[in-house]
Amino acid sequence: MTRPEYLPFGKPHFSDREIAAVTRVLRSGWVGMGPETIAFERELADYVGAPHVVTVNSCTSALFLSLLVSGVGPGDEVICPSLTWCSTANAALYLGAQPVFCDVDPDTLCLTVEHVLAKVTPKTKAVMVVHLGGLAADVATLRAALPKGVVVVEDAAHALGARFPDGKPVGSSGNLTCFSFYANKNLSTGEGGAIALFDGSLAEQLQSLRQHGLPVDAWKRFSHPQQLLLSNPLDRLGYKMNYTDLEACIGRIQLTRQPEFAAIRLDIAQRYVNGLKAMSPPLGFQRHCLDPYHARHLFVVQLALDRMRLNRDEVVLALRAQNIGASIHYAPLHLMPLYCDGRQPASLPVTEQVAARMLTLPISASMSLSDADDVLRALEAVIEGR
Ligand SMILES: Cc1ncc(COP(=O)(O)O)c(C=O)c1O
Repeated sequence: MTRPEYLPFGKPHFSDREIAAVTRVLRSGWVGMGPETIAFERELADYVGAPHVVTVNSCTSALFLSLLVSGVGPGDEVICPSLTWCSTANAALYLGAQPVFCDVDPDTLCLTVEHVLAKVTPKTKAVMVVHLGGLAADVATLRAALPKGVVVVEDAAHALGARFPDGKPVGSSGNLTCFSFYANKNLSTGEGGAIALFDGSLAEQLQSLRQHGLPVDAWKRFSHPQQLLLSNPLDRLGYKMNYTDLEACIGRIQLTRQPEFAAIRLDIAQRYVNGLKAMSPPLGFQRHCLDPYHARHLFVVQLALDRMRLNRDEVVLALRAQNIGASIHYAPLHLMPLYCDGRQPASLPVTEQVAARMLTLPISASMSLSDADDVLRALEAVIEGR
């Protein structure tokens, strides 16, 4: 039976606490970047195990600014997986650099050292590691294997709360690590992003670049009226990419609720794994998806297409027709005209194979186990052709 309401693939959970925080900030008369943002940055830094966190208006901006302060520019090559959201590769394009796409492991869906090393050239300036779905890729081994001078930037849009194999949190590696607080993320503030890092002088550069290259941010000017705007003249091109207190006050509450959200996500993932194993043909899922170190932002399923009548897109549409918000993460970037730019696309056999059979099932802290059962029932009916 079709669900009466559409089940979105990701839906944030906001309680009265987030609503009270927004009310408090609205009543304070200061909704720009200020004390809430500073407090959120400190709390987030503690949570991810980094000495500095710089918030920005999106993870896309975080990735762009990270490459910018790493010195990436025209003529440089930036290696990243093709199996990712466009933001990863676009960060390189914004700077006139060339994204060079690498393949991924078929089971973890993340890049490996071998995939990256196969793409390194004398022009390689950076590698962007995507922790797909919330599974942390092994950045320590990668960094050790890369030539000196190649920078690693982590795209941790999915991976707040994830841990590396040694148990340390994503954000604590020493690499510039970029998080997203977009509407459907594990920690949601509608929009927003952050860079976790260890280098204090880079953190200062990022703080300035996110606000027009100004030496003093808007909150300091507001709270210290004797500070004149542009008493130090601009000497670099900056951007308008700052976060706001209206968002940060939500983020601070969402951060304290991460254990609650993680427990719900784990229950749903467990329910999916049990259900998927019992289906005919059985469906594959991302390796380590029940591992305590996985952030479970996405629940990725791999269809056994050779034993099915429908293709992946037909399965997704059939699920949506039953009010199940299944989705696709991702269409491979290396085959898209924007990135080929008239050249023959690289051959990335694993990416091309898995991308044709991958779909994501709804998972969020707003879901119940009964929602997960609806998903499994609908999926079973679709793949068995009922
Ligand atoms: C892997 C990945 N990187 C980057 C981003 C960009 O995040 P934002 O929407 O905060 O810019 C996303 C967004 O979903 C993503 O999935």
